[in-house]
Amino acid sequence: MKLWAGRFESEIDKEADSFNSSLNFDKRLYYYDITGSKAHCTMLGKCGIIPAAEADIIVKALDGILADIESGMTVIENAEDIHSFVENELVSRIGEVGKKLHTGRSRNDQIALDIRLFLRDAAKNIIALIKSLIKQLVEISENNLETVMPAFTHLQKAQPTTLAHHFMAYAEMFARDVKRFKEALDRINVMPLGSGACTSTSYPINREMVAELLDFPAITSNSMDAVSDRDFVIDFISAASIAMMHLSRFSEEIIIWSSDEYKYVELSDKFSTGSSIMPQKKNPDMNELLRGKTGRVYGDLMSILTVMKGIPLAYDKDLQEDKECVFDAYDTLKACLGIFTALLGDMKINKDRLRESTDGGFTGATECADYLAKRGVPFRDAHSIIGQLVVYCIKNGKTLQTLTLDEYNKFGDFREDIFDVIKPENAIARRTAPGSPSVKAMKDEIDKMKKFLTKA
Ligand code: ARG
Repeated sequence: MKLWAGRFESEIDKEADSFNSSLNFDKRLYYYDITGSKAHCTMLGKCGIIPAAEADIIVKALDGILADIESGMTVIENAEDIHSFVENELVSRIGEVGKKLHTGRSRNDQIALDIRLFLRDAAKNIIALIKSLIKQLVEISENNLETVMPAFTHLQKAQPTTLAHHFMAYAEMFARDVKRFKEALDRINVMPLGSGACTSTSYPINREMVAELLDFPAITSNSMDAVSDRDFVIDFISAASIAMMHLSRFSEEIIIWSSDEYKYVELSDKFSTGSSIMPQKKNPDMNELLRGKTGRVYGDLMSILTVMKGIPLAYDKDLQEDKECVFDAYDTLKACLGIFTALLGDMKINKDRLRESTDGGFTGATECADYLAKRGVPFRDAHSIIGQLVVYCIKNGKTLQTLTLDEYNKFGDFREDIFDVIKPENAIARRTAPGSPSVKAMKDEIDKMKKFLTKA
């Protein structure tokens, strides 16, 4: 039975009915819909808008419906949307009294509430998952404070660093993701019920009471805005897109690092797959999927931005299109965070190979230039001299390590200590400013991150 059937003289066309229906996807909001209805009904009873005894009957019946859905006794089907389903079910269970639930309410403020309740839990779940990932990164970093590896720029070897420094860079990104989801949560966590269809209601409702019952710290300030606002959905998907971008970058590195050319890491058998034709293959499919699914979450963001861009105030049915994209973004990010954290924990780090790779590619060149500059050569000149030294090495098949002191001295005033200066371990140890890779600086960064994890 349609909630709005009274004004109609004939039934809706079958195809139009299924085109209009959102039950297929909004049924996952049943818990939030029923929870919101219970709070609304309790308020109606307490404010004397409906008799308190009837409010009790409705709330109990709503509890029964929730329990039956959860146990599988009641199947959500045959309704236009989750709101219609719950109301129809209520009336079929308790009769006429059930028809009073919707007093002073519209599906427009009802769905605005449902999606906020859903996203409030979703944001909290995502925050917890990102924090687990950061914990994993901190743990790996603590075990690799002295694991030397090349830092890259332009994917060319740049300077020596440590695996801890590289991994903690991602921890910083994910910590900002946590903050982004928290900020999104602030805007999600506002109670819209009482806004009605668009101009609130003439019943003497108590919106603050509903907010308190549902644990909202604030209520929305304008009923037109409240039923038509979905920027908090955009906040959520946008935070999800940025988090996916971070996962994707990291995945890309793991894909490169696990290739035969790099061999920096080895994925465990549990998190890789094989080829149906090439027996030797061990493929980083999880990371490739993570990278691929990022496009999908960006698509969700584009969808909701585009849906919102041209709709006049207040509620329009276009807004129903917010759900599939936000569910998809949430489900995708949630799955990706879980897989990625587990995969990292099981990944083997090939320390010898990382160390060996640091020696090639002239990663000590900046140290050589700084060596001259610290002895009074203007840095720009020192840079140019070492540039020529590198060309000499390339032409003569030498490295900064295999050059003789005599060869060094063809270019500038070098002493025996240059060989110590260019050692990656020493280059790293000299970098003590906050944010740098020395053990001391990294320990400080990790301490800060641990504090963030306990308070965030
Ligand atoms: N299914 C709708 C949505 O997701 C619920 C609100 C419907 N309101 C209405 N007046 N048709 O937005």
